[in-house]
Amino acid sequence: MREALARLLALATGLVVLVAAVAFAGFQNAGTTTAVAAEPPPVAAEADPARIERGRAVYADAGCAGCHAIAGEGNPRNPLDGVGGRMTPEEIRQYTIADPAIADDLAPRVAAAKKEFQKLPADDLDALVAYLSSLE
Ligand code: HEC
Repeated sequence: MREALARLLALATGLVVLVAAVAFAGFQNAGTTTAVAAEPPPVAAEADPARIERGRAVYADAGCAGCHAIAGEGNPRNPLDGVGGRMTPEEIRQYTIADPAIADDLAPRVAAAKKEFQKLPADDLDALVAYLSSLE
C-alpha cells in the first residue's frame, strides 16, 4: 500500500515537472516570436533609402559643408563622420539648428549661423536628421 502511494507520488511529481517544462518552453517561444515581429518597423523607418537620399540633398543645399566634412568632403575642421553613432537623432537636430537647449555649447557666431536652419521646412529637417543618423 505504501509502495503504491510512493509510486503514485513520484508519478504525480514527474507530471508536474513535465507540464512546467512544456509551459516554460511555450512561453520562451512566444517571447522570441513577439520580439522578431516587433523589430522590423523602426529599422525600416530609420533606414528608408529615399529619405536618406533626400537628407543628403538637403545637406548639400543648406551649405553644411562650409563648416563640416563627411567622408573627406567639406570643411575638415568639424567632421560629421559617425555622428549617428555618437548622438541621438534629437541631439543631431538640436545641434543642426542651434536649438536653445544646446545653443550655449556653440560659439555665439556658430550658433547665430546655425539658427538660420530653424527656417528649414520641417520635412527637410527630418530628412537631414535621418541622413546624419545613418552615418555610423
Ligand atoms: C558656420 C559654421 C557651421 C555651419 C554652416 C553648420 N555647422 Fe554644424 N557645427 C558647427 C560647429 C563649429 C559645431 C561644433 C563642433 C564640435 O563641437 O565638435 C557644429 C556641430 C554640429 C553637430 C554636432 C556634431 C558633433 O559631433 O558635436 C551637428 C550634427 C551639426 N553641426 C550639423 C550641421 C548641419 C546638418 C548643418 C547644415 C544644415 C550645419 N551643421 C551647419 C558649425 C557649423
